[in-house]
This record gives sequence, C-alpha cells and structure tokens, in this order.
Amino acid sequence: MGPEAPLADGIVDYFQGIGIPIFGSTKAATEIESSKVFTKELMQKYNIPSARSTSFSDYNQAKEYVQRQTPPIVVKADGLAAGKGVIIADSIPQTLDALDEIMQSRAFGTAGDRVVIEECLSGEEMSAFAFSDGTTVIPMVAACDYKRVYDGDQGPNTGGMGSYSPPHFFNPTLASTVKETIMEPTIKAMAQEKRQYKSVLYSGLMVTGNGPKVLEFNARFGDPEAQVTLPLLKTDLIDILVAVINGNLNQIDVEWSHDACVGVVMASAGYPGSYKTGFPISGLDKLDKDILVFHAGTTLDSEGQVLTNGGRVLTIVATGSTLAEAREKVYSNLPRIHFEGCHYRKDIAEIKRKK
Ligand code: AMP
Ligand code: GLY
Repeated sequence: MGPEAPLADGIVDYFQGIGIPIFGSTKAATEIESSKVFTKELMQKYNIPSARSTSFSDYNQAKEYVQRQTPPIVVKADGLAAGKGVIIADSIPQTLDALDEIMQSRAFGTAGDRVVIEECLSGEEMSAFAFSDGTTVIPMVAACDYKRVYDGDQGPNTGGMGSYSPPHFFNPTLASTVKETIMEPTIKAMAQEKRQYKSVLYSGLMVTGNGPKVLEFNARFGDPEAQVTLPLLKTDLIDILVAVINGNLNQIDVEWSHDACVGVVMASAGYPGSYKTGFPISGLDKLDKDILVFHAGTTLDSEGQVLTNGGRVLTIVATGSTLAEAREKVYSNLPRIHFEGCHYRKDIAEIKRKK
C-alpha cells in the first residue's frame, strides 16, 4: 500500500479484517507518519535521536514559547499536509506567522490542531529505509531526495523532483548507527506501544556532527525514492513482502546490488502550483534499453498515445557502477522525451564537495 492517506484511514486494517493479505502499516502504526506529536513523544520516550522539540495544542502557549527561542526555528503541523506542513523560520516574526498560518488560518485544516516546534538541525540530509515484520529489521539501501522544484534547491517544495542511491557520504559505520540507534529501537518502541510495525519504515534523517537524527518517519517507500532503491534489490520483492506479512522476515536473505541509481522527475509546467494536462508525450520509444521509465501522471488516449495527466509525470531512472555513470545515463536520455512545458532538475546526484 503506497500513499499515506489510505494508510492513515485504515485500509490495511480493513483488508486484514476481511482476510486479504496486504503489505502496509495499520492505522495505529501509521501514526508514525500521520502524527508528528505522537512520533516526537515516542522518540523522546525511547531515546531515539531527533531534534529537541516541544508540542502545543494551545495557540497562545505556542506563541509565548516561540518568543523565548532563538531562530532559525522549525514549526510543524501535527497531521498530514502533503509535505507542506513544515516551515523553517529565520526570525521570530516569521515563526509567529507560521504558527498563525497553521493554528489560526488553518492552512492545513485539522492537521494544524497541534504543532511541534523544534530546533533547526544542520548537516547532510538523507533517507533510510528498512523492512520489518514487527521484530526483524532489514535495512534497504539509503537514498537522497530533492524536494525543491528548481536547481540548487531553489523554489517551493514538491513531492520530490529526483533522488539517488546510495548517498555519496553513506558508509558502513553510518549504516550501522542508523540501524542500531534509529531503525531497531523504533520498531521495538512501536511493539511496546502495541502498534506493531509491519511494513517498510522510511526515516528522513539529518546526519549532524552528533550523528544521524530523525526529521520524520513515513510509513511507506518514498516517491521518488522507491524508484532508485528497488532497482538495486536483487532478492524478489514479493518474497520480502510476504515474509513481512507472515512474520518470518528472519528467514529471508535480502541482497542489494552495489551499483548506484539516479532518478529524475519530469514535471508539468507550473508544478507544484497549478498546471495543465493532456499534452502528448513523445520519445518514450527512443530511450536506451536499460533506462527505466516510471509513469505517475500519465494516461492513454483512445489511439494509445501517452498523455500527461498530473504534476509529476514521469521518473526516468538509470543504474550504473558509479553515481557519475548512472547520472550521465539519465541525463543523456532525458532530452529524448518531450511534452509541452516539461521541466526537470539538471542537478540531481550532482555532488558538490563542501569546501
Ligand atoms: P519533514 O516533512 O518533517 O521531513 O520536513 C520537511 C523538510 O524540512 C525536511 O526534509 C528537512 O529538509 C526540513 N526539516 C524538517 N525538520 C527539520 C529540522 N529540525 N531542522 C532542519 N530542517 C528540518
Ligand atoms: N519524497 C518524499 C516522500 O515520498 O514523502
């Protein structure tokens, strides 16, 4: 089960209730994504590393608290807000505006009944993933996601404009730290809270000078992270999903390729704002054989022509023995695909070493 809304509405509980096997987290377990207040409390209780934070349901108390903090300050709506409920404010007035927007103007509806106010972390951002049947935890390869619409991380946030795997700074020590201090303790904590977590756990992390810290959890594969992690999976995905459902993940040997994978999203003109659809997409038959094309916002017309039908239209993916090779493959194929107004980032997986 993919998107967060049906998970949070309890589709997995429903399938379980009528005896149909389903891979996904229950409504109670999905709170790890659907309530930031719940998750912050969980992390505090079980010592899972995260930004220092306080939660509020009272607007005036939140306001008073903000006035005693030092910017930058991060304000998060408690509930699901399609990736838009997080505001990083550089000043007190800006923080108060964010609070106002979430709790008073109700920009995100009931998602803003409560807020989390937290310290701003700096470091390298990455996403880690693990399969779990509630007991056994098996990490996936990690990835980096590009949320902003324009090159150089400019412009508004989107669902994700591209991604690559593995992160250029990832290494075995960091992988063990993430597994031992974040993934395993979180699965254990959820079991202790009687919210057994059986699915894939997605952890958005900031790798700080004091180690990796959790920014958020998602109860699913990410989009477009799935497109660059699953092509590296050598084991049959179905075997893993079934083992998660049956609670015998410890019997599966999950193998990953050591290749790199890069995915670039092609979006409609105007996205993430308003956009038009129905434009023909050409060139899909002109790509090299080993290029993967994931359709998201597309449809077929009566003649079998592929048309645009959404904001994020396609994700174009290539693997290579190095990140540079995978990147080169994606970007040499991308210009062969065209639809009116299409835009994509040119800097996915471009690694600029910090001076
Ligand atoms: P979230 O939906 O919680 O992952 O937040 C969206 C984005 O906001 C993240 O991908 C980060 O880039 C940023 N962010 C969230 N929390 C923090 C924080 N405490 N410090 C710095 N950046 C953050
Ligand atoms: N790309 C971020 C997400 O799937 O939530």
